[in-house]
Amino acid sequence: MAANRKSLCKRKRMILGIETSCDETAAAVANGGEILSSVVSSQTDLHAVYGGVVPEVASRQHLRLIDAVIRKAMRSAEVSSGQLNAVAVTRGPGLPSALLVGVAAARGLSLRLQKPLVPVHHIEAHLYSPDLKPLPFVALIVSGGHTLLVDVRRWGSHEVLGRTLDDAAGEAFDKAARLIGLSYPGGPEIEREAREGNPRAFDFPRPMLQSGDWNFSFSGLKTAVRYTVARLNAERGTRSVEQGGKSKIPQVADLCASFQAAVIEVLTEKTVRAAKVLGARQIAVSGGVACNTALRAEFERRCQAEGIHLALAEKKLCTDNAAMIALLAEKKLAHGFEPPPADWDIDPDWILG
Ligand code: KG4
Ligand code: ZN
Repeated sequence: MAANRKSLCKRKRMILGIETSCDETAAAVANGGEILSSVVSSQTDLHAVYGGVVPEVASRQHLRLIDAVIRKAMRSAEVSSGQLNAVAVTRGPGLPSALLVGVAAARGLSLRLQKPLVPVHHIEAHLYSPDLKPLPFVALIVSGGHTLLVDVRRWGSHEVLGRTLDDAAGEAFDKAARLIGLSYPGGPEIEREAREGNPRAFDFPRPMLQSGDWNFSFSGLKTAVRYTVARLNAERGTRSVEQGGKSKIPQVADLCASFQAAVIEVLTEKTVRAAKVLGARQIAVSGGVACNTALRAEFERRCQAEGIHLALAEKKLCTDNAAMIALLAEKKLAHGFEPPPADWDIDPDWILG
């Protein structure tokens, strides 16, 4: 594991992290900035039939799996519960009934072991998941639920510069994929199809590229995909998936490549511009959409050209996981974490900042 992450945690602490904010039941053990184990049990297949996450299904599955996932994380880290210095858990934001499962499990463990319980902000954990050089930096967090551009000057100080006004970037990938007739989650599907496609085949809009602020919007782009799919189907005399049709139009790869190019251009351009305007010499990119190879390559190209250090989260830390929860908790403890009152509750709408 990288030297910078380790050097942030001078006194090693053994942390068990637990994450159940959405549709991944996850537990991990970290020590001294090093990930000793990371277990993620994904519910993607369960939710795929519904085309998105169903909260009731998610919480039931978390309940079924949480104990086994925690045990597996401890076993693969070869750590006994007595060796833990703290338990960390996602407090929010996320689905209320899903968050409750993780917090109940974490609280039970912390009480039994008499070890501190560290509540963690899910987005903050994504934000610090790349291996960062010393601060400051501008962070882009792009996931299924969030698209945020954040200015980080000092440890723990997060000024949100901009956010999506409607769909998150990952949500846009998921919705566009559905319109095109691809399965859920849409991001990896679109990325796979886009490899064979022409990114200039369809002239999709670049929403808010020139808006003069740092916000994003992706619902118009999704609507443009909807109209294009409907037009292509009408030309062939077929029905789109949305209209109950089954056949895929032949231009799927071009549609995916053009849609992906539009999202990537807006995300990279606005982030690099924000870093330049704020004089930040470092950009951090994280969240599920940061798995996208084309997005990563474009950030690398742009940052190299601008002489900006790029801290990309490792792919295994991009989608939801508990290692990022444990790693952030360790940093918090190293910076003098003050525990909240013992009766703290989940915070499904917890705002970063
Ligand atoms: O961070 P994450 O696991 O969960 C949330 O906190 O939302 O992100 C999941 C999102 C989904 O919308 C998924 O489609 C998207 O990340 N995603 C991708 C890729 N892999 C996952 N989007 C684009 N390209 C990918 N390769
Ligand atoms: Zn997430």
